[in-house]
Amino acid sequence: MRILGIETSCDETSAAVVTVTKDKHVILESLSTASSLSLHAKTAGIIPEIAARQQVKYIIPVISQSLKGAHALSIINGQSSLINTPTIDAIAVTYGPGLIGSLLVGVETAKTLSYVWNKPVIPVNHLIGHIYANFVREISNSAADITFPAIALIVSGGHTDLVLMKKHGSMTWLGGTRDDAAGEAFDKIGRLLGLPYPGGPAIENAAKEGNPKAYHFPRPLWNSDDFDFSFSGLKTAVYREVSKMQKNNNGTMQQFSNQTITNISASVQKAVIDVLVKKTLLAAEKYKVKSLLLGGGVAANSALRDSFQSSIVNNKSSIKLFAPQKSLCTDNAAMIAAAAAFYDKPVHWSKLTANPELYF
Ligand code: KG4
Ligand code: ZN
Repeated sequence: MRILGIETSCDETSAAVVTVTKDKHVILESLSTASSLSLHAKTAGIIPEIAARQQVKYIIPVISQSLKGAHALSIINGQSSLINTPTIDAIAVTYGPGLIGSLLVGVETAKTLSYVWNKPVIPVNHLIGHIYANFVREISNSAADITFPAIALIVSGGHTDLVLMKKHGSMTWLGGTRDDAAGEAFDKIGRLLGLPYPGGPAIENAAKEGNPKAYHFPRPLWNSDDFDFSFSGLKTAVYREVSKMQKNNNGTMQQFSNQTITNISASVQKAVIDVLVKKTLLAAEKYKVKSLLLGGGVAANSALRDSFQSSIVNNKSSIKLFAPQKSLCTDNAAMIAAAAAFYDKPVHWSKLTANPELYF
């Protein structure tokens, strides 16, 4: 089975083709992603209207590109063409959660293609997509098999959620952030420090040169007996620290020294990672899981991955850690096609609607 995936929930416009083997190995054939990130860097945050307008421009080119890469397009007069039905069996599309204008671009395109090509359309929850990035393989035997039960930690710009997976199709939400998502905290703190947008990768980079013990930032809900997180206090603590430094300098705005930026970055990153690792491993222990799956943009953070791995080793735990390749942690269509391979519930195109509030 061959699936065309489409993802447009936030600022990326992405299309991918995967082949699903009989034993449910999802093999990536092609992936094409256009991002409007550079336009949002100027405003240090996403402007939904700008994101959706760019997606209208990019959607057909990225779909053509990915079908071409997968040799699924017909060639007419030497040109590849979307007019004839490509060699795919289904279209998978993100229908929520996300920005409504952005979601609509992908959903309406998928509905149109489903009608024109007479192919089933499979709606996919973006959050479940992030988990299924772990199931994408470059070649048939390139990933170790994930065994259940599993805990998934989704850490992105919009979400921080812990989910128990007993098997494919069985998901129980265990907890999540009560305020800001982990990626959102990185982005806001990056802005306070004058780092480029998005803050997550910039803070990871700056943290490499910094001392994680230079500042002790709060670790909210550290001892709470639930699986919830809270990151807005961290942003406030950094804001206070930064304001204090500015006041010390007679209230005039000053450039922070490189050392201040690297030390705050390292300390912030450590505070976020400490809480994520502690709560996730507690959940893993409680539910006696065999696998731990990371997903979402923040899962691209090497310090987070390393910290999980070393804590698992230190705890002498037999749990296996999985994280998607870094390019599949941030939003992409390969993860949407992969989720559809396991949640194969097609709907008639006329029944498909975008749902920005969708959750687990
Ligand atoms: O999954 P994603 O592309 O979009 C959402 O669904 O939100 O995640 C984007 C988020 C941003 O907040 C970004 O700062 C963060 O992921 N991020 C990172 C890293 N790469 C992206 N955070 C920490 N370290 C990284 N290397
Ligand atoms: Zn996402």
